Amino acid sequence: MRTLLDIKTEFNEYLNQTLPNRNDLEKGIRYAMLEGGSRFRPLLFLTIIETFGLDASRYFSIALAIEMVHASSLVHDDLPEMDNDEIRRGIPTVHKAFGHPQALLIGDAMLANSFQYIATNKLLLETEKVNLIRALSEAAGSEGLVLGQYNELASEKPTLDELNAIHHLKTGKMFELSVRAAMIVANRRGNNGEWLYFSSLLGVLYQIKDDFMDFKENHDLKIETYVSIVGVDRTKEIYREKRESLFTLVKQLDSNGSLLKDLIETMFM
Ligand code: IPE
Ligand code: MG
Repeated sequence: MRTLLDIKTEFNEYLNQTLPNRNDLEKGIRYAMLEGGSRFRPLLFLTIIETFGLDASRYFSIALAIEMVHASSLVHDDLPEMDNDEIRRGIPTVHKAFGHPQALLIGDAMLANSFQYIATNKLLLETEKVNLIRALSEAAGSEGLVLGQYNELASEKPTLDELNAIHHLKTGKMFELSVRAAMIVANRRGNNGEWLYFSSLLGVLYQIKDDFMDFKENHDLKIETYVSIVGVDRTKEIYREKRESLFTLVKQLDSNGSLLKDLIETMFM
């Protein structure tokens, strides 16, 4: 029986072997992809695949596409025009290591390339590919991640509801994608409401945790976060409540296996 760590190790090896290394641009992409990262989104997809009774290893190229869209958003998110971060995953951000215009282009190439990894997959049916590409573009684009990032720029004093809406778009939509992608390849139709609820809960919880970590590192954040709106104690309370609901739900959804349960519990312990 494969563990979560086995799948993560296998997937990391796959990334290392699959991503080309022929020039500086490709080195930049490899840097953005391979230097650390929790792999949460691809592992979410892969563990749900296993929960549905399929072999995760057969779907690594889709997991790669999901991770690449996410990593591309981070390359741009760290730029001075956005969050202006110099360190990510303990090392210099892509624009610090490769230059600012280069980082823009590295991010662009990653976003465009991600679709290729789905389109050139030899195991998938054409309709599955179209559905996956559609789901990926919906999650990443102006109805998803980018809209969330965009709205965040405009929100100087968001209410908690507005903040939740931003989290839902910038983080939740990519989690929802991991779920939807697994459904597409497992050919599951209908009655997926609880899975979609699961992914939205996951998105909110993940972002509260992220905000809280940012707050612990820097108490003078310029942006609004859970902590700045409701305070540290209430943030912890909300986090615990939502985590409880999530753990209960995961036990129902992953009743036979343990991979998805392990992933969620490790993430939110
Ligand atoms: C990162 O968001 C980018 C997206 C989620 C699209 P954040 O700015 O909230 O995350 P970190 O703190 O840079 O990782
Ligand atoms: Mg950021």
